[in-house]
Amino acid sequence: MLLKNNVCKKDIFCLIDKYSRVISRVEAEMLLEYLFNCARIDLYIRDFKVDKTIEKLYDSLVSRRMSGEPVQYITGRAEFMGLDFIVTKDVLIPRPETEILVSEIINSSRFPAREPLAGHSNNNKETKFSHLQYSSSGHESISREQSQEVKILDLCTGCGNIAVSLSKLMPQAEIVATDISEAALKIAEKNALRHDLSDRIKFYKGNLFNALIFATFARHRNNGGLSINTDIKQESVVKNPKFDIIVCNPPYIKEGELPYLQKEVKVEPEIALNGGRDGLDFYRVIAKESHRYLEKGGSILLEIGFGQKKGIENIFSSYNIFEIYKVIKDFSGIERAVCLKTLT
Ligand SMILES: C[S@@+](CC[C@H](N)C(=O)[O-])C[C@H]1O[C@@H](n2cnc3c(N)ncnc32)[C@H](O)[C@@H]1O
Repeated sequence: MLLKNNVCKKDIFCLIDKYSRVISRVEAEMLLEYLFNCARIDLYIRDFKVDKTIEKLYDSLVSRRMSGEPVQYITGRAEFMGLDFIVTKDVLIPRPETEILVSEIINSSRFPAREPLAGHSNNNKETKFSHLQYSSSGHESISREQSQEVKILDLCTGCGNIAVSLSKLMPQAEIVATDISEAALKIAEKNALRHDLSDRIKFYKGNLFNALIFATFARHRNNGGLSINTDIKQESVVKNPKFDIIVCNPPYIKEGELPYLQKEVKVEPEIALNGGRDGLDFYRVIAKESHRYLEKGGSILLEIGFGQKKGIENIFSSYNIFEIYKVIKDFSGIERAVCLKTLT
């Protein structure tokens, strides 16, 4: 590469310009932020020495990106709701669309508890997501007066992006977060610690709602050498496992579509993507089990995949206890979040 040694920020611009022909400009900047361990703005206002070693290191980072490794896995960081999250290959990289769920919960919590957004009940209203209130620089956390105490269950927490940002922005929220992957939970716990929220979020491992069940005690009766379970008891890890809100961004890709995903998505954990034959397996379990864990009139907020709204509506309506009060579209106009409340 034809760059002068030991010069100034001008060379940073050369690097960005050169590489933004092969990767996006934002990614070129993210890799430089990582390399110089600085904020993006620093790339433009500080002088950095760009010598042969830096150039070589940068080349290797760009090559990794070009071979299909997402930039967030290279840097080990991802941004969500304007907050910085640790990510590894054990977790899904948080997506901007998922911010819809968080924003919706924050907005609805400005209203009296257990009431979905005023005016949105019974009309299955479709809304386009607006992100204006939560710019990455200007977080507006809800004050104690504005927000009522609210218990939230974040199923399938991954790196903890939903749980951590809700906890950060809603001082009154009591949050329980679960995942089946121990490796993911370790990252989620690190993220809670990083944002100084370890004492406000409880993490549990297990298959969806089963994570809330503490243990299965079996009393054994000896029967001619065979040990038989005669009494199986389940206890809850959470004192009162009833929540005002259940939020979940489950795996929702159809199993048959997994081989055809973009190479960047294919490197994410399959367990975070695979939603079964029709992509709806997790919604079925949530529809079946959630009433046991929801307060009367509680809400469920779910991220959904392209074209899944009808199927999800059918699943929940078969129980006659849920009502969809809002469907939110993402920036591309795709129905991305379904908000339901219990009628009982
Ligand atoms: C689509 S990712 C969502 C991660 C994160 N909440 C987000 O929004 O970016 C789905 C997560 O579900 C977890 N998962 C998969 N199967 C599960 C199960 N049966 N029970 C609980 N969690 C599960 C995966 O480990 C993964 O972290």
